[in-house]
Amino acid sequence: MDARTEMLKLIRNRRDGFSLQQPFYIDPDFYKLDMELIWYRDWLFVGHNCEIARPGSFFTVQVGDYPVVVVRGRDGEIRAFHNSCRHRGSRVCNTERGTSARLVCPYHQWTYDLDGKLVFARQMAENFDKADFGLKPVACENVGGYIFICLAKEPADFAPFRAMMEPYFAPHNLVDAKVAHESTIIEKGNWKLVWENNRECYHCAANHPALCKTFPEAPTVTGVNGAESDPEMLEHWAKCEAAGLPSRFRIDDAGQYRATRAPLLRDAVSYTATGRRAVGKNLSDRVSTDRIGTLMLYHYPTTWNHILGDHAVTFRVLPISPTETAVTTKWLVHKDAIEGVDYDLQNLIHVWTETNDEDRRIVEENAFGIRSPAYEPGPYSELHEGGVIQFVDWYAGFMEPRLSEGERPVLRSVA
Ligand code: FES
Ligand code: FE
Repeated sequence: MDARTEMLKLIRNRRDGFSLQQPFYIDPDFYKLDMELIWYRDWLFVGHNCEIARPGSFFTVQVGDYPVVVVRGRDGEIRAFHNSCRHRGSRVCNTERGTSARLVCPYHQWTYDLDGKLVFARQMAENFDKADFGLKPVACENVGGYIFICLAKEPADFAPFRAMMEPYFAPHNLVDAKVAHESTIIEKGNWKLVWENNRECYHCAANHPALCKTFPEAPTVTGVNGAESDPEMLEHWAKCEAAGLPSRFRIDDAGQYRATRAPLLRDAVSYTATGRRAVGKNLSDRVSTDRIGTLMLYHYPTTWNHILGDHAVTFRVLPISPTETAVTTKWLVHKDAIEGVDYDLQNLIHVWTETNDEDRRIVEENAFGIRSPAYEPGPYSELHEGGVIQFVDWYAGFMEPRLSEGERPVLRSVA
């Protein structure tokens, strides 16, 4: 049986409320199907507008087999291109980030304008037409300071996501932020294990001593069920919405993205050891209250986020192999905040640096145990792991029709 048929069979026969079968977490062919049917098809968060604030600023990102460069043009527009030279395919930009008036391929110096047009190619044949050899564009959108790309030839409509998310993000003015710190860790586990771990706080009390000082482990906060009947959440939403901050729980029909605002514990206003603010300057001049808790956004398969009054912590997930996943964390502060004056960097990054490392260890242990021939899917806690059930249901619901696209129609026998 080929991998596609096998995966489809396992998805159709999976037990609701249970973790997935072993091949979903370790099998290279299943991984290829994940890449092809999700990662090469859907909108992916890659970075922030503020990281490429000036014309000519760019960053690169690798999504599976695809190297991509994201660059701000002279007109201020943000565009993405396949980072593969139209001469003989070399990577044009081979650094993580930079600023350049034009994109020059290091191999034979073919030179592209910031909008991807080929403007210089030395000593080519007379009939060579530069217009035929621009960098290939990648679909690129940005909303609320977040840049998304989509590798599909016909990307899904970005408008519904924009419409839902923009009101939540606009007040926080992340376009005018700056990245105070960035870290990338490689977790030795399949990307879905990284997500499963993220979508519950069943593990928090025993594993996250620093985070648990400020972040509630209540399933109404971390999951997708019951927030509307939690009086604390209702009160928090009412208070924040009265202050002009959209806060109520919202999720799209497919369950791919969700936003909600949640209070932090007791008097905490930020993710610090004391719960006191980490940055003296508010992230946004438009958000006056600092008792706004955290605005949480996830968008499968690439990002989860916490936006606070004084800073934001954003996360990007990128699969490296069937059993390795890169998690990039960025701490955003107001663009005018000065390290050593408005914030102490160690104080700012301490809680999530610790938490990330704790989560890495958890994911790696999870992955290790799943490799055992004795592993079999186990039941999620409905109370605490509603978010994981939702993630796995989303995954199965997304994959099933995509896997069956190539299926031959079943011919019914006529009696
Ligand atoms: Fe880029 Fe030759 S491969 S200039
Ligand atoms: Fe965790």
